[in-house]
Order: sequence, then structure tokens, then C-alpha cells
Amino acid sequence: MISFARKPAMYGAASLRVLDLKPRVEDFQSAVVAGLSAAPKAIPPKFFYDKRGSDFFYRICETPEYYVTRTELGMLDDLGAEIAALAGPAASVIEFGCGSAEKIRKLLAALDAPADYVAIDISRDHLLASAEEIAIENPNLNVSAICADFSQAFELPDDFCDGSGRRVAFFPGSTIGNQTPAEAEGFLRHVRSVVGAGGALLIGVDLKKNVDRLNEAYNDAAGETAGFNLNLLHRMRTELGCDVDPERFAHRAFYNVALGRIEMHLASLGAQTVCLDGQDFAFADGETIHTECSYKYEIAEFADLARRAGFGVRKSWTDAERLFSIHFLEA
Ligand code: TRP
Repeated sequence: MISFARKPAMYGAASLRVLDLKPRVEDFQSAVVAGLSAAPKAIPPKFFYDKRGSDFFYRICETPEYYVTRTELGMLDDLGAEIAALAGPAASVIEFGCGSAEKIRKLLAALDAPADYVAIDISRDHLLASAEEIAIENPNLNVSAICADFSQAFELPDDFCDGSGRRVAFFPGSTIGNQTPAEAEGFLRHVRSVVGAGGALLIGVDLKKNVDRLNEAYNDAAGETAGFNLNLLHRMRTELGCDVDPERFAHRAFYNVALGRIEMHLASLGAQTVCLDGQDFAFADGETIHTECSYKYEIAEFADLARRAGFGVRKSWTDAERLFSIHFLEA
């Protein structure tokens, strides 16, 4: 199961180990059929990220309204020395899902001679490309890639983390908010078992705040978030041959105060029927497909969640505007 993706010589001192756990990639068509048959209708957010969806997401991060990425990057710059002191020398960094290489680059550059970097992602191509880049840029780092669904339990091979320092998991971007609090707790418990006793987790969590500010972040004026959401219908059309017309649906995102989450939906403009694989799915006027949640936490709420999952909070930071938080949790 363990193979070298390229000849180690390509990286100088570094090499790239690959462990492919062959995650079961849920078939898009069955997920959509199940989602449109459910009441209320819902399609899981993991299907957002084809090439076109990832391009939309990149542009969301550049919009003035979406403060999350920009704020977290700024905080990582400011907190580098403090994080390095907490992580200690020769740390083994384990990233759950490799999103933008920019964040992990900042972290690795800030740390005191990190020994290992393990990237985990469900998308094999994206995973290998990102891990390879990091390996080339950091010839003294022991770089490994695990192709797995990071929400499912897995064992880390010993030689992926053979440095003398502590294991520090990294989970930026408030991706934790895209799970329900109950799922998030289970996920944190799993991370806790991967880093083991003495391990740590550096995690970015978006904060509860002014409702208008939250609503604007998911309704940018340029329409990138709308494009991202509607891309799901575009995929259904082009990949599944579904006769859905993206123009007959609208992006709806709003903060649900009672549940403490942004909800993204696709709302039907008028009553209509869409056909997929010979099956008809009827929509009432205004009926929605729920496509994503993004939970927001108070600092204390998140600390409670972390504690329930077996972590203590060593340190929490926010930016000056209290938009976003970063936590250093210890197992
Ligand atoms: N996890 C981030 C968030 O919830 C990023 C994200 C996921 C996102 N899906 C999104 C941002 C859809 C905007 C729209 O904010």
C-alpha cells in the first residue's frame, strides 16, 4: 500500500511516501437521486468541488465580503512565532484535507525545523500535487501523502511521523463548521487519536458575529458564492444528463440564528419538474435543495466542543475585529 510517488532523488534529501486507503468516492448520481428524493431536499457539499467549483471557491476567497480566508492568513502571519513556541522543535505536522497551499506554507515556514509533514485528502490528484510542491520546497522535510476520507478513522504509519517533536494536526479554514456540532465532536475525537498523547491541533474556526456581516460573506456582490452553489446544478446537467436549468434556480444563503449556522440552498424559481435517470423530481415554487451548512462558534462554545472531544485549549486567538479564531488545542 505504501509506494514512492516519484524517485526520492527528485527531491534531494526529501522523499514523498504515499499511502492510498482507496476512499470510497460516493457516486454523484446516486447521491443526487437520494438527495432529491428526500424531504426536505438536500445534496451533500462535497460535490461542489470539481474544477469549475474550485475556481469559484478561489474567487470567493478574493471577494471583499468573504473575510474568512484573508483574516486567517493574516493571523497565521502574526502568530507564527507564538505557534512555533507552542509546537516546539521538530514537530510532525498532519494536515486534514489540503486546501490552499498558502496556509500550510506559512505554518511550515514559521515552525522550528519541522520534521514531518503528512497531507491527507480524498482527492488523489490534488493531494499528490500539493504534497509534491511542499516536498520540493522543503528538502529537509519528510513528506507523506495519505489518500483517505479524513472524516473516517485511519492509522498513521509510524515512519510517516518519525521526528522527535510533537504531532501537530492542522485544520484551517473553518472547515470544522461544515459539519454539525455532533459530527465535529466525532471528528475532533478522531484527530485526537491520530495525534496521540502529547499531540496538538491547530484549528481555524469562524466566530458568531453581526448577522449582516455573516449574510454578506455568503452573498457577495460579484455573485461568486452564487456561482459556486449553482455549479452543482451545472454539474448535474453536464455530468448526469439531468435536464435541470440553473437559470430557474436561485442562490439563497442566510444565517439561521437559532441554529448558529449559515445555510446555503438552491431555491426553485417557480413550480417545475426536473428529470434525472428517467425519474421526475417535482419542485414547488420556492422549494429548496439544501446544499451546505457553515456553523459559527463563540470562543467558549468551541472550547466546550474541544473538551468533549478530549482536547484542552492551550491558547485561543482572534483578529482585532473578532471575526475569526484560531485555537491551539492539546490532547
Ligand atoms: N468552510 C468555509 C466556510 O464555511 C469555506 C466554505 C465551504 C464556503 N463552502 C463554502 C464558503 C461555500 C462560501 C461558500 O465558510
